[in-house]
Amino acid sequence: MGVPAPTPGSIKSFSPQRGDWQHSVPVYNAAMRVTLFGASGLLGQDLVQQLGSEEVIAPSSKAADLTDHARVRDLVRESRPDWVILSAAYTDVDGCETNRELAFAVNCEGAVNVARAVREVGSRLLFVSTDYVFDGSKRSPYEITDAKNPASVYGESKAQAEERLIEILPNVCIARTSWLFGHGGKCFPATILKLASTRPEISVVNDQRGSPTFTRDLAGALVQLCRVSAQGIVHVTNSGNCTWYDFATEIVRESALPTKVNPVTTAEFPRPARRPAYSVLSPDSLHAYNIRTPEWRDALRRYLREPRPVGV
Ligand SMILES: NC(=O)c1ccc[n+]([C@@H]2O[C@H](COP(=O)([O-])OP(=O)(O)OC[C@H]3O[C@@H](n4cnc5c(N)ncnc54)[C@H](OP(=O)(O)O)[C@@H]3O)[C@@H](O)[C@H]2O)c1
Repeated sequence: MGVPAPTPGSIKSFSPQRGDWQHSVPVYNAAMRVTLFGASGLLGQDLVQQLGSEEVIAPSSKAADLTDHARVRDLVRESRPDWVILSAAYTDVDGCETNRELAFAVNCEGAVNVARAVREVGSRLLFVSTDYVFDGSKRSPYEITDAKNPASVYGESKAQAEERLIEILPNVCIARTSWLFGHGGKCFPATILKLASTRPEISVVNDQRGSPTFTRDLAGALVQLCRVSAQGIVHVTNSGNCTWYDFATEIVRESALPTKVNPVTTAEFPRPARRPAYSVLSPDSLHAYNIRTPEWRDALRRYLREPRPVGV
């Protein structure tokens, strides 16, 4: 019996039992085969960039709706990736409150569909999760061992997904992140710049603290996590932390805009979904893989220096 040719890239050995190639070395020194769900999103667009030298299959949400388990399974079967990166999600945090069914269908059952498909072909899964799995009652950075207690439907759907994925794929890598900004879509700095360009004063909440995270830095770190074959929960954000008011003040200051930023409380600006008052994620789990991320102010400066795509 002839041995089939391996896919190019990662280091593999032939498994006579399975009749195909298996990874023999868990660190990828050459191109990885990656299937990416959510490529059109804020993070997804930077993941596509950062995965530039890898073999990437990035189906659109139309081509692979996460809720269509047969389609997801076929796609993963056909692409036979080393890694599946699941960045796709229903991310409208307030919308999730009134669309609970959709939130769970996409964020939890959709993720389960992907995990089952990944298990079937023996690939690895990196699932992008959120700081909103925590209730925000702590006042020191959340460790990966801290108990989850989401305060919103979005947080609940992601927290439940985490549990289900660990059951299905004990070697899943769950990368929790927070407060994303980037050039791939609407985000906080873009909104503040738009408001500040037309208003003399803006009001921003000063009683929610977290770590703003540039999708470029996050995408780079996630690709590194795949390369080192990471597993378990990892917290991945830019370093440092601030309130939304601090973040807005820095955006206005760095952009030399005359707009005055006023601190307000969450109670003054009620939203349908509850947000954690404190959701800083400890970087220890990321540092364990020898991966570091720049400070959020440095990330913001790089974001602001780059020309923004039209409409964002
Ligand atoms: N944004 C944040 O501040 C933040 C914070 C913490 C964690 N996260 C997590 O980080 C990840 C990336 O977030 P993001 O801000 O980049 O999200 P995003 O910009 O809202 O993009 C979401 C992506 O998911 C796709 N998608 C939505 N529903 C789908 C479905 N039913 N089937 C297949 N694809 C679907 C979208 O496709 P279309 O473009 O075609 O709709 C899009 O590509 C998510 O898992 C999110 O939960 C985000």
